[in-house]
Amino acid sequence: MERKKFGIGLLGTGWMGRVHSRGYESAREMFWPKSRWDVELRNVCGSSPGKGRDFAERFGYKASSADWHDLLADGDVAVFDNVTPDPLHVEPTIAAARAGKHIVCEKPLAVKASDAKRMLNEAERAGVKHLCCFSYRFMPAVRLAHNILRDGGLGKIYHFAGTYYQDQGSFEETPAEQVWYVAGSGVDQGIGTHLIDMSRFLLGDDITSVFGMKKTYNTRRDSRGGVRDIDATEGFFTMLEYSGGCTGMMQCLGVANGKQSEFSVEIFGSRGSLRWDMADPNILWMYQPETLTKNVRGWVKINCTEPDHPFMDIWWPKGHVLGWEHGHVNMLAHFLDCLAEGRDVSPLGATFKDGYEVASIIETINRSAEEGRKLPVSY
Ligand SMILES: NC(=O)c1ccc[n+]([C@@H]2O[C@H](COP(=O)([O-])OP(=O)(O)OC[C@H]3O[C@@H](n4cnc5c(N)ncnc54)[C@H](O)[C@@H]3O)[C@@H](O)[C@H]2O)c1
Repeated sequence: MERKKFGIGLLGTGWMGRVHSRGYESAREMFWPKSRWDVELRNVCGSSPGKGRDFAERFGYKASSADWHDLLADGDVAVFDNVTPDPLHVEPTIAAARAGKHIVCEKPLAVKASDAKRMLNEAERAGVKHLCCFSYRFMPAVRLAHNILRDGGLGKIYHFAGTYYQDQGSFEETPAEQVWYVAGSGVDQGIGTHLIDMSRFLLGDDITSVFGMKKTYNTRRDSRGGVRDIDATEGFFTMLEYSGGCTGMMQCLGVANGKQSEFSVEIFGSRGSLRWDMADPNILWMYQPETLTKNVRGWVKINCTEPDHPFMDIWWPKGHVLGWEHGHVNMLAHFLDCLAEGRDVSPLGATFKDGYEVASIIETINRSAEEGRKLPVSY
């Protein structure tokens, strides 16, 4: 079988740069021989020549630079992968679309919805394929939950409850630079976006209205030998209504002391319920009383590592669990499948359209929190 080979041009050498680089290599090895593509780590751009060179040597990129325009000028780069901090997602990605590169861009697609819309428009105009990295869609237990909901397994859906707790900002003494969401764009952009995408993906519904609340608990932090004012959101909460008629509630915290990174979702329907938690990512909990005999009625713990569970035909024998990283591997393999076979990235993968709609929803929640009232969502 002839394989199409795709050269990767990576912008950003931080920890997510490492995740994606390992992801392409792992996808190449694990999805072979089923895949109809091959992939080459072609060119990497760091914030200095030394950083780019070191990263290239470590992960096996053929070339490196300190100017992202070099990735666009490289004719062997077919896929431009942007893993820089949120504010740098916009302009290089738009330039990549104009240069005719297919694009992988980390979430949030952009902090401002208007920027995300420009990115979507440019990618569509260029006719390139685009992926926004909502990687949890590609964890086996999450995909199984998606399939159960798609097939009506929970009946009429009443409610989605989601929490994403982290604790990096809990200590007031931690300097601003060491708290990722203070140095970055707040917990709304960093982890709230994952919750919004997860609910849309699992329910298959649009969000129609929101009522938000947000909080910065530590408004001053040490910074570079002094103290500075902080306005990055540390607590982000919202009630939601969905087009299918169900309600939702989400809580996002960067100061949830003792919660390292706990992302959990629960969905309640007329015929049953589902529960998933990233702290135990292979397990999907399901309550479906009509499928059980009366005296053993209760929650069923599904270890999603059987060969017929999503993605598990290409991974390890049953019981040999996967982790967070595998969501990225499965997601990148899906994108390369779509390139090689001319298939749509959506609805299983998130595109720039999803990235734009999530940005609009986050913006509406923030506005709702400022105005203290429920607001409709429009795109
Ligand atoms: N999908 C997920 O689960 C997930 C998880 C964590 C982070 N993220 C997202 O991934 C992105 C990257 O996050 P990160 O934590 O790896 O950030 P990071 O700060 O660790 O790394 C970013 C890298 O970009 C480089 N960089 C900055 N400006 C540059 C420039 N002009 N040219 C070249 N390189 C430049 C920095 O030197 C750094 O190496 C963010 O958008 C973040 O929100 C996604």
